Amino acid sequence: MERTLVLIKPDGVRRNIIGDVISRIERKGLKIVALELRTLDADTAKTHYEEHAARPFFPSLVEFITGGPLVAMVVEGERSVEAFRALAGATDPVAASPGTIRGDFALEVQANIVHGSDSTYSAEREIKLFFPDLG
Ligand code: TYD
Ligand code: MG
Repeated sequence: MERTLVLIKPDGVRRNIIGDVISRIERKGLKIVALELRTLDADTAKTHYEEHAARPFFPSLVEFITGGPLVAMVVEGERSVEAFRALAGATDPVAASPGTIRGDFALEVQANIVHGSDSTYSAEREIKLFFPDLG
């Protein structure tokens, strides 16, 4: 069964919408198989977002993602990578369709509530980073 890494970023935790995000994942038929509330250190954040290391927004992104507790989850189900990306909506919350998590809850690109792995390859790498003990 396909797995993906989902984060409810610090803005989502701060705004008390953990339950709403989890409810959308569960209603879709996806299964949460691991879950942890934690605050990332800078090294883990940089590794997680390593593909963006050269981008101008990278330092600000690392500061944002380490700025408070987040919820990390492993989500499992049929085509879960694509299924969660569809639930999340476009990266820019203003462009994201209403009905998606970003489309319903966010206005700013950086503070866009959730992360979801963008491929099964990324999912495997990110799950290892966040949940090294998971089989
Ligand atoms: P990206 O991987 O392009 O988006 P997604 O989260 O949809 O996979 O970018 C990672 C995060 O970086 C994104 O969720 C928000 C932040 N970001 C910015 O702050 N500014 C930007 O211009 C972009 C493209 C992303
Ligand atoms: Mg991405």
